[in-house]
Amino acid sequence: MAAPNPSRTTDWWRDAVIYQVYPRSFADGDGDGTGDLAGVRARLPHLAELGVDAVWFTPWYASPMVDGGYDVADYRAIDPAFGTLDEAEKLIAEAAALGLRVIVDIVPNHVSDRHAWFRAALAAGPGSPERARFHFRPGRGTDGELPPNDWPSQFSGNTWTRVPDGEWYLHLFTPEQPDLNWAHPDVRREHEDVLRFWFERGVAGVRIDSAALLAKDPGLRDFVEGVDPHPYIDQDEIHDVYRSWRAIADIYGGVFVGEVWLPDAERFARYLRPDELHTAFNFNFLACPWEPGRLRRTIDDTLAEHAPVHAPATWVLCNHDVTRTATRYGRADTAFDFATKRFGTPSDLELGTRRARAAALLTLALPGSVYLYQGEELGLPEADIPPDRVQDPMHFRSGGTDPGRDGCRVPLPWEAEAPAYGFGAGPGEPWLPQPADWARYAVDRQNADPDSMLTLYRTALALRRTVPGFGDGPLTWLPAADGVLAFTRTQGLTCVVNLTHTPAPLPPHTELLLTSGPLTPDGTLPPDTAAWLQAD
Ligand code: GLC
Repeated sequence: MAAPNPSRTTDWWRDAVIYQVYPRSFADGDGDGTGDLAGVRARLPHLAELGVDAVWFTPWYASPMVDGGYDVADYRAIDPAFGTLDEAEKLIAEAAALGLRVIVDIVPNHVSDRHAWFRAALAAGPGSPERARFHFRPGRGTDGELPPNDWPSQFSGNTWTRVPDGEWYLHLFTPEQPDLNWAHPDVRREHEDVLRFWFERGVAGVRIDSAALLAKDPGLRDFVEGVDPHPYIDQDEIHDVYRSWRAIADIYGGVFVGEVWLPDAERFARYLRPDELHTAFNFNFLACPWEPGRLRRTIDDTLAEHAPVHAPATWVLCNHDVTRTATRYGRADTAFDFATKRFGTPSDLELGTRRARAAALLTLALPGSVYLYQGEELGLPEADIPPDRVQDPMHFRSGGTDPGRDGCRVPLPWEAEAPAYGFGAGPGEPWLPQPADWARYAVDRQNADPDSMLTLYRTALALRRTVPGFGDGPLTWLPAADGVLAFTRTQGLTCVVNLTHTPAPLPPHTELLLTSGPLTPDGTLPPDTAAWLQAD
């Protein structure tokens, strides 16, 4: 492994590269078609060789898997399909031995309807203390036949479900994900305990799911478009929760990354105040189209909104909820938006891949930390899932118009010639079908190819560790032609991205460190290509 770069800060999370593992689809150790911890443990060397600093696992807890594990039945148990707690502890230790920190995913907004608390609440009936941990209410209308309010769902569909005794309960996501009542002391105590449970097991950080949704308007008042504050997004009370979480994390040296989708920069930055979360995902960057003006503005806005709270920015191109980068960047509309996700959007994958390579060098050169979603290092495109194999509730709740998120959750290809591309060692068919032409994306094939996406990522990550100037620190834009983004970091490190349709000259430099694609014969930077340079 490369020697640590002395110019980097001791706060590892300020400039880390964090790899997201979706355990169901990473590697299948027992060969039943579903990924598991045994599979992850066997493939940890891939992550160490790739050169990432930490690994974030989407939920691996006991779950009926109605929403891919974001419906947690027991935070202190690993889902039997994935393995055991003992294996998770071994995994954390083995990762540490390879220099990889582990981040777990906590879902505080809701639990599974199979969680012991919700079972008890259903059994105990209206007015019981068990129901007070959730949002149970009588309905409106003459017989309580109408839901208690009009809140829109985070997935399409209703946010209230009626139980046989006539009460309704709130669920911002599916009915199998009842929302917890964060005004209840049990809810706070339990989550603080869950945090300690995982920090005690050596995890370095926690990703907080739906982090801005926990606190609800106390009267559960109706949602009125344009009237602030929103009754369940970004309520002020939420910050008190994160302050107490931070005090716990500080005892263990643990860090948080919040899933905070908020367009308002000032409201977003509140989550990153020094006594709250360390970092939050940069969804404005993820959603930004591949367009020079928009990208530059998003980068500037990101840095400006983080500066007052001294938090590092994060750079994210994709995750388990959104269209894969290579596919998105090959479309006519290269932005990401849940509202416009539709089946059958054409994509020029060659173009999208070229841009995804350039975007990799861009993000890795920006100040802050970077998230890499499994398969991004292989340049995987979004897969088409046959309608009868779709699993994601987002698809069903949209009435079938939204393709759902399965297309970015397909099991990884490891070996070009093996059954299921080496995803699993056994006869089990992968839980989601893998496209017939994925041999070319397999890890073993890319290992041997100097021009592959995997080689690009490995080389880039190795340089990012050893060359001074990457990670946390200032960024200065350089003068460049319209449509060319060029900036320096410290110590002469320079990044140039050509988003025009014609080749662009490189700025003066002493060394060409890396390019995302070949230069033209006369040494200029082709369209949709990025370069890292060393200047004086
Ligand atoms: C987050 C997760 C997503 C999940 C939702 C509900 O947005 O990333 O996958 O469906 O929360 O927990």
